[in-house]
Amino acid sequence: MTIIVTGGAGFIGSNFIFHMLKKYPDYRIVCLDKLTYAGNLSTLASVEKNKNFRFVKADICDRQAVYKLFEEEKPDIIVNFAAESHVDRSIENPDIFLQTNILGTATLMDACRKYGIKRYHQVSTDEVYGDLPLDRPDLFFTEQTPLHTSSPYSSSKASADLLVLAYYRTYGLPVTISRCSNNYGPYHFPEKLIPLMIANALNDKPLPVYGKGENVRDWLYVEDHCKAIDLIIHNGKVGEVYNVGGHNEMKNIEIVKLICKELGKPESLITYVADRKGHDMRYAIDPSKIHNDLGWLPETKFADGIKKTIKWYLENREWWETIISGEYRNYYEKMYGNR
Ligand code: NAD
Ligand code: TYD
Repeated sequence: MTIIVTGGAGFIGSNFIFHMLKKYPDYRIVCLDKLTYAGNLSTLASVEKNKNFRFVKADICDRQAVYKLFEEEKPDIIVNFAAESHVDRSIENPDIFLQTNILGTATLMDACRKYGIKRYHQVSTDEVYGDLPLDRPDLFFTEQTPLHTSSPYSSSKASADLLVLAYYRTYGLPVTISRCSNNYGPYHFPEKLIPLMIANALNDKPLPVYGKGENVRDWLYVEDHCKAIDLIIHNGKVGEVYNVGGHNEMKNIEIVKLICKELGKPESLITYVADRKGHDMRYAIDPSKIHNDLGWLPETKFADGIKKTIKWYLENREWWETIISGEYRNYYEKMYGNR
């Protein structure tokens, strides 16, 4: 079995590669990644020498490079994690989101049609459903919830999902889609809420909370997401969408206060800053389908997962300090400088 994992030098893709190489020692895992600002080869250092692993630096929009890799590897399965993934960046510059997230997905699927594969899996997001009101805790996203996006990021992901379903219906491409809630865990790029707050708190820097910090996200430990994708590519039904989430809704401010507490830092570091444009209020997944059909359940409770995550950031300072001392400084200044 040969699996091409695109975007495997990023947060979730790298965790997925570690999971797969450990669980299936006879599978060949090929990582295709452009190494954008979010991709980091050092993340994959522990598997670099594994004889069943290969890394290829390429852009999923580069048709020639993608086709060449398909010719060389004759993959059975493609799992597409490659994407521009940060909402704030999509608000500043939508174009690259449309390129990678939509056109890149189409290019990968064209290669699948041309060379033949057993499964194309699209890693999508709950953000394609838009948001839920804070005063209706009874409402959840199901697979039937209409797509109703808010940001250029979520719109590009929803567009890709529609294309994936179109390739299934029109060309019979054997596809599946997973729509997961917010992940957290090791190797999470420090521009996202949890790692940003951990890094800033450790450096005694202000903790920038957007708006009032009332927005709710449904947090899932990254390993649980990887296990869900593993189940879907092996046992999921072709043409189906699976929501993935662990019923762990928390307000942003609760998370930031918890991080302060775990690190022994004062809440006076918390700084309320201008809200994100079009900021989604609440995400909440109904994971009944993947539970009933594939037996998936999250294994890591948030209280344990956040401790493990903080420990990882404490023990791997070099990984994130290298990132925040580089180009990231310009990003941070632009995004937070006069907010
Ligand atoms: P990430 O930003 O950490 O990693 C993205 C990876 O894709 C990087 O390694 C980057 O170099 C690579 N990449 C970007 N553009 C590329 C291109 N044109 N060609 C090849 N590689 C390219 O993202 P992540 O948080 O790991 O998210 C992975 C996927 O999961 C995304 O599709 C995202 O939409 C989805 N998702 C993320 C979350 C979350 O909470 N992080 C939740 C649900 C779904
Ligand atoms: P983020 O990690 O960017 O994920 P997403 O927007 O895809 O859910 O943000 C999570 C939540 O945290 C979101 O409501 C925005 C908020 N947030 C802050 O309050 N401050 C920050 O500095 C960041 C990056 C996010």
